[in-house]
Amino acid sequence: MAPAAALSKVLISDSLDPCCKEILQGAGIGVLEKSGLSKEQLLAEIKDCDGLIVRSATKVTADIIDAAEKLQVIGRAGTGVDNVDVEAATRKGILVMNTPTGNSLSAAELTCGMIMSLARQIPQAAASMKAGKWDRKKFMGMELQGKTLGILGLGRIGREVAIRMQSFGMKTIGYDPIITPEESAAFGVEQLPLERIWPLCDFITVHTPLLPSTTGLLNDTTFAQCRRGVQVINCARGGIVDEGALLRALQSGQCGGAALDVFTEEPPKDKDLVNHPNVISCPHLGASTKEAQSRCGREIAMQIVDLVQGRALAGTVNGQALGSAYASHTKPWIALARTLGIVLRALTQQVNGGVQVVTHGSTLQKAGSYLIPAVAMGLLKETAQKTVNLVNGLLLAQEAGLKITTTHNDRALGSEEGLLQLSAGTCMLTGSVQGDVAVLRELNGAVFNHPVPLTGTLLFYRSKPSLLPTIIGLLGKAKAELLSYHRSSILTGEEWSVTSLSSALPSLQELKPHVAEAVQVTL
Ligand code: NAD
Ligand code: MLT
Repeated sequence: MAPAAALSKVLISDSLDPCCKEILQGAGIGVLEKSGLSKEQLLAEIKDCDGLIVRSATKVTADIIDAAEKLQVIGRAGTGVDNVDVEAATRKGILVMNTPTGNSLSAAELTCGMIMSLARQIPQAAASMKAGKWDRKKFMGMELQGKTLGILGLGRIGREVAIRMQSFGMKTIGYDPIITPEESAAFGVEQLPLERIWPLCDFITVHTPLLPSTTGLLNDTTFAQCRRGVQVINCARGGIVDEGALLRALQSGQCGGAALDVFTEEPPKDKDLVNHPNVISCPHLGASTKEAQSRCGREIAMQIVDLVQGRALAGTVNGQALGSAYASHTKPWIALARTLGIVLRALTQQVNGGVQVVTHGSTLQKAGSYLIPAVAMGLLKETAQKTVNLVNGLLLAQEAGLKITTTHNDRALGSEEGLLQLSAGTCMLTGSVQGDVAVLRELNGAVFNHPVPLTGTLLFYRSKPSLLPTIIGLLGKAKAELLSYHRSSILTGEEWSVTSLSSALPSLQELKPHVAEAVQVTL
């Protein structure tokens, strides 16, 4: 994807706040709104779309992605991207973005509502009133004060639930493999291992993504370790609480009640859980508030406008390198990494044995994350069957068997602000950035006292300087001009010359007798 992607047709295929369309159109982006499309209709519609924006109803499967001939970006107005085949999108170089914070508060508030509803059976009591009853005995509830709430997943939503339920006097304990105990203590959650959590909880609420490691987090075995009558809330993703195990626990009384906003299949065909008297359920309403929808619609639209206008990106799910591609201080380094990758591949066949990338200087300390995909882009430029960009570069390089390793050296060499070194086998290139221009400083130990700007068509060769007249002659025949000439010093290593040409020479055949090596690249 070129930085500043041009998007002329963006399809919004789920119902979204009108501000999304308005913001996109305001930035000159063409928008088509069509929700409720069948798979066949979506397959036909997506063909010529540059962008796609969805909530959770549209399933962006690999066949939809394959059918999209021009698609550059998939925007998910919401958190979970489980309805998007991110790997298929990445392989095709399509950027996937979401709005991870836009609906967190709404989902947290619904969870709190579910906890209160479970404690006092509010939905069941309301339904009984509508049925004309006045049943005060049946709906005996419990206070939340002093009860223990177990929170599994202490990210954006889990922590907001904790803070809110503490105001009801609940004790909040929890578990998250990434959040430190110190961090969770700051929002009042004591972390414990899962096996210690199960027997302590009156209520358990899950707030993790659906991953192999979280699928069936509550199952027959873990339910058996819980307090009898434990109440369970799932406003995250269907399947984190095993639905079969939940039904069995409800039937045996091991689980006293469950509140479900999400299901493994939506809408659920099997109604056993929904119809259980101790279950309250919603049709995936966690994010269904005016505020959340307006935030998510606005955020995804603005993120796409930022992409088009080449501004720093937020909410990238894949292609994190793109997040840095537009910042003025990183942009030239990304260009340098890509061009060094192209030159390295042209100079040596040894890239298949592995490419080592070394960043020098403290300014490049964290640069590996965006420079490596750019190096991969360069290495694959001439060989890949499909478009290679910062989104798919690394994946395609891995699939092509190219192993790229990276190390960082905090000390800049010489007086440089930073240096980037690429090597494969015996070939080594060192480059840096001068102003905004990517330049080559060293090739196999040969130092260019006047660094070579890495742009346009460059001819690299190793020979006596007297070859210049031969090259000028060849250029004349090819109606091309010599734009600049750089020669390395010969203090150490080899002596190299680099000429910049107005257009590529049709063949290097005539040079062969005069040079030890010669390659031509167009950057
Ligand atoms: P988040 O990424 O901020 O937090 C998720 C947390 O889960 C992370 O801190 C992660 O470390 C933790 N986690 C991962 N594996 C775990 C495990 N095995 N045990 C315990 N914790 C684990 O996500 P979030 O924004 O808080 O969203 C949480 C969930 O809610 C997601 O599944 C999201 O899709 C869903 N969601 C649902 C609705 C809705 O409408 N019902 C709305 C928004 C979000
Ligand atoms: C989400 O992950 O953001 C939610 O499932 C909300 C939604 O988009 O409906």
